[in-house]
Amino acid sequence: MAFPERFSNLPDYAFPRLRKLLDTHAPGGEPVAMTIGEPRHPMPEFVGPVLAETLQGFAVYPPNDGTPELLAAIGGWLKRRYRVEVGPERLMVLNGTREGLFNAALALVPEQKRGKRPVVLMPNPFYQVYAMAALALGAEPVYVPALASNGFLPDYAGLPREILERTALAYLCSPANPQGSVASRDYWASLMDLAEAHDFRIFADECYSEIWRTAPPAGALEVADATGADPERVFVFHSLSKRSNLPGLRSGFVAGGAGGIERIRQLRAFAGAPLPLPVQRVSERAWSDEAHVEANRALYQEKFRIADAVFSGLQGYMGPEGGFFLWLPVPDGEEAALKLWTETGVRVLPGAYLAREVGGENPGKGYIRVAMVAPKDEMQRGLMRLRDCLYG
Ligand SMILES: Cc1ncc(COP(=O)(O)O)c(C=O)c1O
Repeated sequence: MAFPERFSNLPDYAFPRLRKLLDTHAPGGEPVAMTIGEPRHPMPEFVGPVLAETLQGFAVYPPNDGTPELLAAIGGWLKRRYRVEVGPERLMVLNGTREGLFNAALALVPEQKRGKRPVVLMPNPFYQVYAMAALALGAEPVYVPALASNGFLPDYAGLPREILERTALAYLCSPANPQGSVASRDYWASLMDLAEAHDFRIFADECYSEIWRTAPPAGALEVADATGADPERVFVFHSLSKRSNLPGLRSGFVAGGAGGIERIRQLRAFAGAPLPLPVQRVSERAWSDEAHVEANRALYQEKFRIADAVFSGLQGYMGPEGGFFLWLPVPDGEEAALKLWTETGVRVLPGAYLAREVGGENPGKGYIRVAMVAPKDEMQRGLMRLRDCLYG
């Protein structure tokens, strides 16, 4: 039986790799999981009641594009958060951003760019679905290092002209998983200029946008609006997974130019899985409510303060500007994760598992990623054990 070649040399996904590394060894203490970025703060109280009220919605096929009420709630949130008017024709609901980031690329990246194989740009390290989209498209993934020396944001403008000419799509995550870096307005504006000059689209993965330290991160949509960038160049992806602690709801959206959204909708009408109606109703409520988001953010801000206190004075420590991961420098991420597990029971992810080796260099190799999702006291214990074991 034949299988497609294009996925034949995928590395193992990060978590099976981690299990292989750690699970043949006993933990050196009571296990503390700081690996997976699964939010563990309470979900909003209205979820149950709204689901109960709308249960009958499971008895019908849901509207593909999103109910008018849900699209209006999303439009209202975009207006409040970014001061941008976005009509329903510029919105499409998604089963979370992961599938959206993949499927929207299928809908919008052409087979060829200027008669050649298209390029998809992504930061390195990165959220792994970006590379899967590039491979599924038959496009060339180009992994652009996002290092401490460039503020953990990729320098797309510094790429060779030949690559930029073939670029059809650039992914950017802000706040970034794993480093927590935030793209400034200037960064976004320059990227949009580059996209205009070389005729490519930008997919802004902003699923961590509501978890920030001191100020709400600028969004690509508001920068595009303010600078008059072509709306067809910029597609932003948002999710209720982190904002509202609803990773199991599978609910998000993409906003962009009406032309591109039309193509995304068309593909989804044939091959997508629309959000069940009760899920759309819960989502409508969630996008309309900010109180639970503020309470959630306050919990993360407390965790940022705890992390800053635990690691104060540690050379190379930079608390994240947003998101909920720490990206901590170590001599070797795999060795550090193994030592930490066997000596203390704290489980973290080697940074190399989130990055690709390019030219013999893996930009994640000298890091571990630590998720600050556990309850506060458990997280604090984990961080202190980690500090004493790796930096003591
Ligand atoms: C950077 C990034 N993008 C997208 C996602 C996907 O989130 P969801 O599909 O739950 O919206 C995640 C989830 O961890 C992520 O870290």
